[in-house]
Amino acid sequence: MGKNRSKVAIIGAGFVGASAAFALSLNQIVSELVLIDVAKDKAAGEAMDINHGLSFLGQMKVYDGDYSDCADCDVIVITAGANRKPGETRIDLAKKNVAIAKEITSNIMKYYTRGVILVVANPVDILTYKIQNWSGLPAGKVLGTGTVLDSSRFRYLLSEKLDVDVRNVHGYIIGEHGDSQLPLWSATHIAGKNINEYFADPKYGINEADKDAILKDVKTAGAEIIKRKGATYYAIAVTINTILESLLKDQNTIRTVSSVINGNYGIEGVALSLPSIVDSNGVKSIVDLKLADDEVEALKYSAEQLRIVLNEVKD
Ligand code: 2OP
Repeated sequence: MGKNRSKVAIIGAGFVGASAAFALSLNQIVSELVLIDVAKDKAAGEAMDINHGLSFLGQMKVYDGDYSDCADCDVIVITAGANRKPGETRIDLAKKNVAIAKEITSNIMKYYTRGVILVVANPVDILTYKIQNWSGLPAGKVLGTGTVLDSSRFRYLLSEKLDVDVRNVHGYIIGEHGDSQLPLWSATHIAGKNINEYFADPKYGINEADKDAILKDVKTAGAEIIKRKGATYYAIAVTINTILESLLKDQNTIRTVSSVINGNYGIEGVALSLPSIVDSNGVKSIVDLKLADDEVEALKYSAEQLRIVLNEVKD
């Protein structure tokens, strides 16, 4: 562990919260990690299980706690929420999780002294917007995982198609973490060469139809995993880990986190994902990209879809 003390609270010790805690223990970027869950035994059991591996990993404190432990945290991560049940609409889930998030936010704010709130629970853009409002914290201090995971899925699928190390594929999915998300083909590149040049060159054996298939696969990835194993948690866990690293180490990393947007591309009154610079205070700024006209249009459509849900859930 480095010399800097860092404290993180994770609200919700279900699959996502527990996997994130495990990832944090592997990566040793937090000195104090508290798991908070209404199911106290579950949080306690997860903490014990992680603690018993620390002799091979490094020194840190992992324990189950309550909301008073949200005081003096660098980051408070919210993973708690209901999962979508069969037959339930997106709006139903939004209403249910908005109610849960409201109570969680009020409990956090009783003890909040400083730090960033990272929202993971779904619908993440709706909850990020609501939590920023309820908490009264500056917009940049409340961020959601947004399309960071979708962007990782996008990069992975492109790397598979082009047979190149995924870390060398750069590109972003922006907008809603959901159906109205969109790719930024104009800002997607490998070795500085725009992705459209690869698609246009027959030697790479890929074409425009592959683009649509990739986007569909990114969009449906969560549902496809849920269909097979009931939940998604490993990739979101490392997504949480990577955002926490940017926050705790003040890295100025560019990530497509979700935050409340105030005028970018003419959008306001919603939270959604745009490439953003993440430092120890949260979203420091949003990268000002020159988007293609159809990208701006699709982004505005995405904002509109989110606004419709926000109007429905009220609260
Ligand atoms: C995911 O995209 C369901 O939001 C979750 O994996």
